[in-house]
Amino acid sequence: MDPELEAPLLRAWVDAQRRLAAGELRAFTVPGHKHRRDLIGDLVAGDVPLYGGLAPIRDGDALLREAEGRTAERWGADWCRYSVGGSTHGNQALTLAVGAPGDTVIVDRTCHRSLLLGLVLAGLRPIWVQPPIDDATGLPLGICAATIAESLASHPDTRAVFVTSPSYVGTGADVAALNEVTRAADVPLVVDAAWGAHLGSHPDLPLHPFTAGADAVVTSAHKALAAVNQGAVVLARTDRLDAGRLDRAMEATATTSPSGTILASVDGSLALLAQHGEELIGALLDRVRRARAVLRKVPGVVVPDSTTLPGDFDDAKLVVLLAGAGADGIAVDRDLAKQGFTLEMADRDLLVPMVTLADDDEAVADLAEALGSTIERHRGVPRATVAHAAWTVAADAALSPRDAFFADREPVAWDGAAGQVCAEVVAPYPPGVAVLAPGERITQGALDALRQAKADGARIAYAADPTLATVLVVRLDGSSPGVGTGP
Ligand SMILES: Cc1ncc(COP(=O)(O)O)c(C=O)c1O
Repeated sequence: MDPELEAPLLRAWVDAQRRLAAGELRAFTVPGHKHRRDLIGDLVAGDVPLYGGLAPIRDGDALLREAEGRTAERWGADWCRYSVGGSTHGNQALTLAVGAPGDTVIVDRTCHRSLLLGLVLAGLRPIWVQPPIDDATGLPLGICAATIAESLASHPDTRAVFVTSPSYVGTGADVAALNEVTRAADVPLVVDAAWGAHLGSHPDLPLHPFTAGADAVVTSAHKALAAVNQGAVVLARTDRLDAGRLDRAMEATATTSPSGTILASVDGSLALLAQHGEELIGALLDRVRRARAVLRKVPGVVVPDSTTLPGDFDDAKLVVLLAGAGADGIAVDRDLAKQGFTLEMADRDLLVPMVTLADDDEAVADLAEALGSTIERHRGVPRATVAHAAWTVAADAALSPRDAFFADREPVAWDGAAGQVCAEVVAPYPPGVAVLAPGERITQGALDALRQAKADGARIAYAADPTLATVLVVRLDGSSPGVGTGP
């Protein structure tokens, strides 16, 4: 650890470790493992709670607020909370913070399932908007300001606008332009930037959505930064959002036993970004650019960047498109796994290896080399570029997500379910965008795309019937909402 890092929680964690090692901290608090390595092994090493670990139980809140306050100050935010529940927690808290059951919100349909389930929790009614698709790559681009302006004009009762930026594949909205539109309508703009914690920390990257004016931004510090898994941060301005309501919403969905280790890692990774971000992200950008140059030598492979895609793009994101090389991404991924490389996402047409500021020159060069040679080995007949089903869902809402979640449901045959109202979430994961969502009329296109993705070898998550022989639909026989068999 850099001793100059301005991260009070990380300092407290280091001190707790020292006291444990010296036998000065004799914990009669949770966690129950009491740091003994002979019970379930070494995995408990480093696991320190906030309350009773980083600080005495009665002082834990003050220490956490001090750290969050420092982060808020760095960003010019009025409100900041760390989370041990990932961007999932942040997204769901923000849905609980912006309105009341029955209220209308504008949401991009490529949102992560956590936001969709947030709409269920909060009882909000989404007006869905779609991002445009880039014809050449099939990738979703950022939501357009004109789309949001149009939707706001048609729905003047809108309580908030939720957009995902950057997307899973690094494309992003012009948040400053969105902000102009939402400010003019006096509606808060909430950005899920789970993948974008590093944005704005180098002049070659798009602005961080908070700097670009969003009213609230959720980011996963464990994705693009160096935090421990699940670490996240939410920043907000409170002229259009209520601070007390934000607090209540965040607490409502938070564990009461937060891991001090995760919180300390969020604090440390944000301090690292603030103090050394430009240098670390500059080196990351160089490595990713070199990897792109290697991959662009593989005939048919497309590796987009901010110069080839319209709109904002996170140039630290390595996205590899395979259709032109005819290689099957799932086969390439399996082959790479045998070589010891695990990728964040692979489907038939797309590979997304997660490269971060923690990778060194050699690791990224090795990855690029292995990707190139493995794609070559799996070369086939070039295919047309097809946009992933997750980016093109044409939502036809019959019920609100919440009404569908609580409605009576029944399984029906997958073949023949088109036209019925879906009662569950079914999402290829990654990217975790629901292709089937509660309350939406099921289309044949969605059924076919999910079956095809499964046949290709992709992970299809959350389906009550993982074989995709059946799908849960809302029973529309006039029965009252009741408890069904799953989300
Ligand atoms: C756009 C988006 N938002 C939110 C999340 C949830 O993030 P977390 O895993 O930190 O809960 C994800 C996860 O992949 C995501 O892709």
